[in-house]
Amino acid sequence: MRVFVTRKIPGEHLAGLEKAGHEVVVSLFDRPLTPEELTKFVVGADGILTLLTDGIDGDVMDAAGPALCVISNYAVGFDNIDVDAATSRGIVVTNTPCDEVNIAVAEHTWALILSCARRVVEADEATRRGAYRGWEPDIFLGTSLKGKNLGIVGLGRIGKMVAQIAKGFEMNVFYYSRTQDKEAEKELLISHRPFPKLLASCDFVSLHVPLTDETRHMINTKTLSVMKKGSFLVNTARGPVVDETDLVSSIRSGHLGGAALDVFDNEPNINPELYGMANVITTPHIASATRQARHAMGKMATKALTDVFSGKKPENIVNEKVWEHRRK
Ligand code: NAP
Ligand code: GLV
Ligand code: GLV
Repeated sequence: MRVFVTRKIPGEHLAGLEKAGHEVVVSLFDRPLTPEELTKFVVGADGILTLLTDGIDGDVMDAAGPALCVISNYAVGFDNIDVDAATSRGIVVTNTPCDEVNIAVAEHTWALILSCARRVVEADEATRRGAYRGWEPDIFLGTSLKGKNLGIVGLGRIGKMVAQIAKGFEMNVFYYSRTQDKEAEKELLISHRPFPKLLASCDFVSLHVPLTDETRHMINTKTLSVMKKGSFLVNTARGPVVDETDLVSSIRSGHLGGAALDVFDNEPNINPELYGMANVITTPHIASATRQARHAMGKMATKALTDVFSGKKPENIVNEKVWEHRRK
C-alpha cells in the first residue's frame, strides 16, 4: 500500500512500515504543507499519516483518489481533519490517545500550574538578568496549592490524569463535562460543578476539552468575567478554546491572576501582548513532547494504518460508524 506522510516523525516507525512492504512517501518539507501542496502530494495514497498542523478536508481526500481508505492522525486532537467528510467517503480516521500522552500532557499541565503558583518563569527571568541580590523576605511571593480549588474543564483521559496528580497536592478538585462520571468522582475524589459555578469558585482552571463548534471560544469575555478574581487559566487543550484577545483584556485589567498557555488561538502566531505580561507563561505546543509519548504515538499511528490495510479494526478509530461501510 502507498502511504503519504505529511512530515517526518521521530523514531523508526516509518521504516517499520516500509519493512512490512508498504511504499512510504514522506514530505520533503520539514514544515506544515499548504493545501495546494497537500492536494498534490496525496495523489494515489491508500493511507495518509498526518500531523495536527496539516488540515485534511474533503478536497484533500478527493485529491488522494478512490484508494484512500485511512487517515491516521499523529495526535489526540483531530480538529485538523474533516471527520464528517471522511465518514461520508467511507474513510477511516484514527488518532493516538494512550497512557504515555495522557501522562505527558498532565505532567506538563502541572508544570504550568506550579509555574503560575510559584512564579517560576518570572523569577528565572529576573535572576538571568542579574536582579538577584540575595535572599529577601518579600520577593516573588506566590501561593501554596494545598487547600486551593482546581477546576478541570473536560474530564476525559487527560483531565482524569490531571485530577489523579492533584491528589498529591491536596487541592479540592472540581470538574465540568457535559456528562457526569460517578465512577471517576469516587476514584479521584472530585465533584462535578456546572461550568459557571466551577469558574466562579476555582483558583486554577485547566482546560482539557477537544476543539469543537461547542468549545470554540468557550473562554471569552463573558466566561472570564465569571472567573474568580486573581485565578489562573491553564490551556493545554487547543488554542481556539480560548478567545486570546478577551484573555489579554482580562489579564490586563487585573481580573485574572495570570495564564499558562501551551496552545494558541492562531498557531504559530501568538498575540504579542502576551509576551509583555509577566504573569503569562507560554510554551510552544509541547505538552505531549516526551520521548515516551512520541514513541507511543508513532507506534499507534503506524499500526492504525496497517490494521486498516489488513481489514482489522484499529483500537483508536475516531469515526466508529464508518467501519461497516468503509472503502476497501
Ligand atoms: P477525551 O478523552 O476525549 O476527553 C475530552 C473531555 O471533554 C470529555 O470528558 C468530554 O466529556 C469533554 N467535553 C467534550 N465537549 C465538551 C463540552 N462542550 N463541554 C464540556 N466538556 C466537554 O480527550 P483527551 O484525550 O483527554 O484530550 C483532550 C484534548 O487535549 C484533545 O482533544 C486535544 O485537543 C488536547 N491535547 C493537547 C495536547 C498538547 O500537546 N497540548 C496533547 C494531547 C491532547 P463530555 O462528552 O461528557 O462533555
Ligand atoms: C497534540 O496536541 C495532540 O492532540 O496530540
Ligand atoms: C529558607 O531558605 C529557609 O531556610 O527558611
